Amino acid sequence: MIQYRKLLAVLLTATCTAISMPAIVTSGADDVLYETGFENDEIVFTGRGGTEVLEASTEAVHSGEYALCVSERSQGWHGPQFLLDDLCKPFVEYTISAWVKSEWYSTLNLSMEYTDSNGIRQYMNLKSAQGDSWFEFSDVKVSFTDDVTNVYVYFEASDNKCKLYVDDFVLKAAPIIPIQDDLLSLSDLYSEHFMIGTGIMNSNLSSPSFMDLVKKHFDRSMTFGNELKPENVLDLNATLAYMEQNDGDDTNPQVTLSAARSLLKYCQATNTPVRGHVLVWHSQTPDWFFKEGFSDSGEWVDKEKMLVRMENYIKNVFAILEAEYPDVNIYAWDVVNEAFLDSGDPRSPGSDKASSGQSAWVKVFGDNSFIEPAFTYARKYAPAGTKLYYNDFNEYIEGKMNAIYQMAMDLKAKGLIDGIGMQSHMDVTFPSAAQFKTALAKYATTGLDIQITELDITTKDTSAAGLEKQAQMYSDIMDACVEYSDHISAVVFWGVTDDQSWRGNQVPLLFDGSFQAKPAYYAIVDGMEMPDIIETTTTTVTNPSISDQPDAKMPGDVNDDGVIKIDDVVLMNRYIGEDTTIELSEAGLLNANCDGIKGVDADDATHLLKYLAGLIAIEDLH
Ligand code: GLA
Repeated sequence: MIQYRKLLAVLLTATCTAISMPAIVTSGADDVLYETGFENDEIVFTGRGGTEVLEASTEAVHSGEYALCVSERSQGWHGPQFLLDDLCKPFVEYTISAWVKSEWYSTLNLSMEYTDSNGIRQYMNLKSAQGDSWFEFSDVKVSFTDDVTNVYVYFEASDNKCKLYVDDFVLKAAPIIPIQDDLLSLSDLYSEHFMIGTGIMNSNLSSPSFMDLVKKHFDRSMTFGNELKPENVLDLNATLAYMEQNDGDDTNPQVTLSAARSLLKYCQATNTPVRGHVLVWHSQTPDWFFKEGFSDSGEWVDKEKMLVRMENYIKNVFAILEAEYPDVNIYAWDVVNEAFLDSGDPRSPGSDKASSGQSAWVKVFGDNSFIEPAFTYARKYAPAGTKLYYNDFNEYIEGKMNAIYQMAMDLKAKGLIDGIGMQSHMDVTFPSAAQFKTALAKYATTGLDIQITELDITTKDTSAAGLEKQAQMYSDIMDACVEYSDHISAVVFWGVTDDQSWRGNQVPLLFDGSFQAKPAYYAIVDGMEMPDIIETTTTTVTNPSISDQPDAKMPGDVNDDGVIKIDDVVLMNRYIGEDTTIELSEAGLLNANCDGIKGVDADDATHLLKYLAGLIAIEDLH
């Protein structure tokens, strides 16, 4: 049993803070791509609505004499937008800073929008503030993938009449902060017990340091945060087109992998096993899926039609994955997510959009009888060997726990389910580790596999004492998992760094926003022994045969596919790390030695990353 010795953890934390202040590789004025205080510069922002007036004005300023004033707004979304993809590259992380104010009380948003590979405009909020004073949006991270176009960042105010002011706008390349290389790998440390994994989002791919942490500690199982959810996979335009071309057949929802593509490619290149998340859920699922004519305003369809739609949807998801990414190892799927209330009852019927927490599945089926067909179809269409899970939160609350247990036993008797996903979104005050352990014990008696699928532990107290308490809780939870490890195949954290977490204000993860390990990391390492089979030393492979060879055709293009991307860094790192499954072509090997110094090693990877971050020019790749 791991005994987290508090004193030791405090000492470790203190030592680590003292000796491992993150070394920022790049920062400062050199990395500024664009800045304006709206003093004498041409205004490069444009109005989103096309009717707003944008002008430098002295009416309200944060610094200097002028700020950008946006007037004549007639919609909440009207405001200034800045085109990013002229200046910025895909898969590189940037930061936006600005001071923003609205004329009177309003919600201010800094957001991003782009056209995805299906030609659909996508929007995502990056930061918000409320009030009528000047707010600073400071170093807000922004990035995009290589299959999107017309990428803008923009400011808006919820009130559609007030003026909106922006000042001191700065766009920079995000600093690259090295991770702590000397830490023990969590994946390795727990490898005798279960796989360690993480939830990840598209935007994380653009942060080299984030991905270094993933590779080092969480590389055994990956769950996409949003990209395989129904709202991203269901393709309305293609579904309507199918209906039109097939005599009005409104039973065959069409699907797309456009949102998941970058992550799927990453998992393909790195051989990372994936948990598919999620097929059937009341949330992040469009209403049109359940409505006549696939129209949000249509009537709810009946159960018979929904069963056909469900079967086709599940069939289509597995078919598109097989067709487009046959070699990505999606070893598990959350077939149904969050079907029970804490009492163990089904959710209330209705649209989750109309009232959060309602279930359109229950609206159509009348109860939770949609669960069994979902598993039946998943079993029918998933590749042989795929493990199927029911996944839920508050899974340790008695009413819900009993309902999950009963449902799992029923499905198990029919051979439809392989495991239970315990999301494990916890707080230092609830549940107790003992309560968590009671749930583990109960689920273990089903004989099904258990996965901890979305582990994070929030704390409102972010002082040193608060982080210590959080560390103790993490230690107790991991203790319980080790104790039940015969029944647990994976522990998946819901993210890596606090700043990227969905509950970031309550710092729920093992690493902070500067990629440094928190007391919680040390707590779950303390007392664990590295299995003998794992070699902890990192080796740099220098290929002596390279030096006298001809010049590289395209330095940096490690996979020799004619483009230089983050995939090349990933491949190079695996090669350097002596991954025996990796073979570089002759040209790829030459291209990999891109720092001009003999041998392929970590310096080449750093050099390539600097190029991808826009910090050195292509001519600097040799
Ligand atoms: C639930 C879902 C996850 C995610 C979290 C919030 O746990 O299963 O996919 O949406 O909520 O981040």
